[in-house]
Amino acid sequence: MIASILETIGHTPLITLPNINKPSEGQVLFKYERNNPGGSIKDRAAYYIVTEAERRGLLKPGGTIIESSSGNFGISLAMIGAAKGYRVIILVDPKTTTANLALLRGFGAEVIVVTEQDDSGSYHKTRISLANKLAREIEHSFRPDQCFSLLNSEAHYKSTAREITEACPARLAAFVTAVSTGGQLGGISRYLKTFAPEVQIVGVDAVGSAIFGGHADAYRIPGIGLGWTPVNLDMNHIDQAYKVTDEEAFLTARALARHEGILVGPSSGACALVALRLAQELAPGERIICMISDGGERYIQTLFNDEWMEQQGFATSVDMEGLRTMAQRLQPWSLHPAGSANYRSDLLQTLEVPESTLHMNAELLSRGVDSQGGSLFID
Ligand SMILES: Cc1ncc(COP(=O)(O)O)c(C=O)c1O
Repeated sequence: MIASILETIGHTPLITLPNINKPSEGQVLFKYERNNPGGSIKDRAAYYIVTEAERRGLLKPGGTIIESSSGNFGISLAMIGAAKGYRVIILVDPKTTTANLALLRGFGAEVIVVTEQDDSGSYHKTRISLANKLAREIEHSFRPDQCFSLLNSEAHYKSTAREITEACPARLAAFVTAVSTGGQLGGISRYLKTFAPEVQIVGVDAVGSAIFGGHADAYRIPGIGLGWTPVNLDMNHIDQAYKVTDEEAFLTARALARHEGILVGPSSGACALVALRLAQELAPGERIICMISDGGERYIQTLFNDEWMEQQGFATSVDMEGLRTMAQRLQPWSLHPAGSANYRSDLLQTLEVPESTLHMNAELLSRGVDSQGGSLFID
């Protein structure tokens, strides 16, 4: 018997793609994070950060959790808040799907939709500033601060990365995942570069995001991208970066449902396309782990809605050969991502990052969390 729903977080399965992934090439394995109780990989970091906050006395019974999230991290916190009895306030933006809004409210969270765009056409900075302001105003509140807290990547260093190396000890050629706060890519790459340095680490971003440099512009893939390089991501650990277009990401996710029976969200569609591209260059038996950060149900009204796809000017389907050709045509955005790092230590002041985050980061860094970005923030 399981004492709490929260004990079911993690230990997600690895799934093969028998129809799309050919036996003559490298093997793609999906790490299927939809199986977490809150439906996404964000359960891991949310649970770890809340538990650490409780242990450090930053979050006490009767307290309020305040966070900026486009959906998944907020849903995880809302679920955890419901299970543990905390008030939860989540600041989302107009890109958040109606399904995610319903889930947040279903778990009892209070939702604030931030409609003011920041200077890169996204909502990250406006959402974060408002969350920090509310945290200063509301007594006994705690800001998990997924964008600036190094606990985010530490959660993945301690759980996701270990699961990957335990489940796939040999012939792991590459690891692929999407980036926003850099929690998953940052934590897992740090672990792999220490314990399995031969694994190629591949980051996936949206065309329009500036994490790996380039021009910031609007894009439609939810949960991915940022206007700067996040503190949780040490770019020295990243071997290759790809940028995927909205249409490629959405079409790949649709193809995975249609041809493999696997529901994934658009960010995972982007990662899967990159993983299929890498597989075409690898020998049979060599493996690529591709993170599937969430499932497809959350995007029924966008990703799986033909009308919505057509309104965006996207095609609505691609057959297996078309998908393989689309993968083959992808070109890496960068083979030296560290050269285009765009850390923004000035944002600490501009966005008024909470003291609790700064203290925690300083402590983690003194214990040896050696994120290069992290060290920038305690100069
Ligand atoms: C669906 C989805 N994919 C990928 C990511 C990126 O993960 P991270 O923030 O750990 O970089 C997120 C983050 O919100 C997400 O919700």
